Amino acid sequence: MRGQIMTRKVLLVGDGAVGSTFANDLLQNCDVKELIICDVAKQRPVGDSMDLEDITPFMGQTDIHPGEYSDAKDADVCVITAGVPRKPGETRLDLVAKNVKILKSIVKPVVDSGFHGIFVVSANPVDILTTLTQKLSGFPKNKVIGTGSSLDSMRLRVELAKKVGVPVAKVNSMVLGEHGDTSFENFDESTINGKPLKSYDELSDDVLAQVETDIRKKGGKIIANKGATFYGVAMMLTQIVSAILDNRSIVLPLSAPVKGKYGINHELYLGTPAAIDGSGISYVIETELSDDEKKKMLNSADKMQEVLNTVDL
Ligand code: LAC
Repeated sequence: MRGQIMTRKVLLVGDGAVGSTFANDLLQNCDVKELIICDVAKQRPVGDSMDLEDITPFMGQTDIHPGEYSDAKDADVCVITAGVPRKPGETRLDLVAKNVKILKSIVKPVVDSGFHGIFVVSANPVDILTTLTQKLSGFPKNKVIGTGSSLDSMRLRVELAKKVGVPVAKVNSMVLGEHGDTSFENFDESTINGKPLKSYDELSDDVLAQVETDIRKKGGKIIANKGATFYGVAMMLTQIVSAILDNRSIVLPLSAPVKGKYGINHELYLGTPAAIDGSGISYVIETELSDDEKKKMLNSADKMQEVLNTVDL
């Protein structure tokens, strides 16, 4: 437990497509007392606060306004969506240098405000930026969370449900590792209706290999078609932030600290199931993996460390 009364105050940094969609989702799904919106483009939060205020008659009373990083002081959560988004054809890792610079300009002033809540990061590359948010802030590791492979996992469940023709709630399967090109599925442990995935005739090895590729490429495909992805990741942020504010325990595949799990020795965050509640990450789950999947997890961790080695903080 956090040992403090929640203020139900959220500071959102980054009012682009992801940030504003998240603000809208959060207000409709959770009782928030105060939502402060920051962006380097100063006019956007002014407009968005006014626009979002118009939905408040249909929800609980919320004070929504533009603000500064110094307003983080007594916030429960600081959500970071700010960053240069991917252009068509770019990988998430192409964004490292630009987005690390942006991250550095955010984390220090937020911490200097006296902020002692929980950082929730979705800016890409999310595993790298979540790792660096913890480093830059010096916060306890469980007070920093990234959206990780939660979105990929939802995409996977939707796809498998379509393939087998069952409701998505019956599908128990996850994407783990990097939110990016070294991600992998835990097909060897996955179930649908409680039965092993591999017992379904519709899901041959070839079909599953294609599903894995399609899920990995889905974000890029959305960007190629409409220029950006935001509904999915905004909903994952909403799930995380509302679980924190309501102190409700949920388990999701998130960017969580994995050192000591899966044989990983690197000091980094990577997609693994983790339990969160009002205290942040309450428990990192080292989920059962086959030998082949363990190798994929280690490969993903090595790739992230390679990228982290190029970052000069
Ligand atoms: C995506 C972005 C959030 O995969 O990386 O949609």
